[in-house]
Amino acid sequence: MTRRHYTHWPLLESPLTAIAVSPSDRQCFFKQFEQWGLDMELPLYLWNAGYKYVQEFRSGKITPTPTAVEDNILGTICNASRDGIFLVEGIVQSVDPLIDLQLRNAHDALTQRDSLTFIVLFDALLDIPMNLYPLIPQLEKPFPSSKELEELVAQFCQEHPFKKESDPLPLLQACTGLPEGEITLVLNRLVGEASTLEEFADSVLEYAKQKLAGKGVRILPPPDVPKAAGLDLLDKDIDKIASLFDPRASSWKLRNPNGGLLWGLPGTGKSLVAKMIAQRIRAKMIAVDFNQLVGSTVSESLQNLKHLLDLADNSGNVVLFLMNLRKTLWGGSLAVVAGRWPR
Ligand SMILES: Nc1ncnc2c1ncn2[C@@H]1O[C@H](COP(=O)(O)OP(=O)(O)OP(=O)(O)O)[C@@H](O)[C@H]1O
Ligand SMILES: [Mg+2]
Repeated sequence: MTRRHYTHWPLLESPLTAIAVSPSDRQCFFKQFEQWGLDMELPLYLWNAGYKYVQEFRSGKITPTPTAVEDNILGTICNASRDGIFLVEGIVQSVDPLIDLQLRNAHDALTQRDSLTFIVLFDALLDIPMNLYPLIPQLEKPFPSSKELEELVAQFCQEHPFKKESDPLPLLQACTGLPEGEITLVLNRLVGEASTLEEFADSVLEYAKQKLAGKGVRILPPPDVPKAAGLDLLDKDIDKIASLFDPRASSWKLRNPNGGLLWGLPGTGKSLVAKMIAQRIRAKMIAVDFNQLVGSTVSESLQNLKHLLDLADNSGNVVLFLMNLRKTLWGGSLAVVAGRWPR
């Protein structure tokens, strides 16, 4: 589901809103709401299950209020009848029937009164039941756009003189698919260990791969030979693909390719070429046997495929490698090379 950017929130004027925001982006998310709180002359509150009392943001600090949450946070906010923006974390990642009812009740209570109370539900993932869509608009804090990413990396390189002179492309490629807050954290954490920008980019990419591996997907090793012999024409194509994966290509309105079919006899280098492309564009390579995607019903298979595409979509530059491990007489494997760039 494509959601609007969370900076649309003030325009919605909706008493209930849900925003998908990654945990590493919480700090900039809070800062943005503190600003809106000042603009709207409303206090800003925060609650998640880790707090017994509702918290308030006061000059950049989070401090407890005397309001304890005994039963459920939505009821507590509605009963308190207090003006303010309430950021509520962690109740919409999975909405059970009880929370579903509490959300409906909160919507009724907030729309029936004149007070300026806004509840903002936020979490890394939103799983709002379809029947609540009309009551709860959904927004997101997306990954940085290619322009924002460029600015972020350029600023980082400025602050670290030994990176200033180098072309930041490898770093840009390695940072795709990471949220803004995470990029800042990871760059600062890894910068001390690398002596060149290339080395630095590789360690950031390694971090991103480990993160993907933690989600249970198979990450393939790099190519075992430096060059694919006898495939000179394909080599030229890879050069072209690599240049289109330069994030700056989008400023010339060039789009990166998002599919390719490798066909050939067993052992002639299809898997090798897919790995080489991944290496050249600094992409993570996710390998999937498409027999595993087939479920017992069509909808189950589609669900599996959707899960895979969502994962690829949220992982920056990815080579999604679809193989047929149940080989037929014609053997071979099918590689679909899908590079995705953050929206
Ligand atoms: N063109 C080539 N140049 C150099 N080495 C090659 C080439 N083709 C294959 N190889 C070597 O053979 C190994 C196996 O090739 P690879 O797995 O890419 O073949 P494939 O076409 O994917 O085979 P399959 O159809 O069985 O999946 C490679 O890891 C590499 O070491
Ligand atoms: Mg193969």
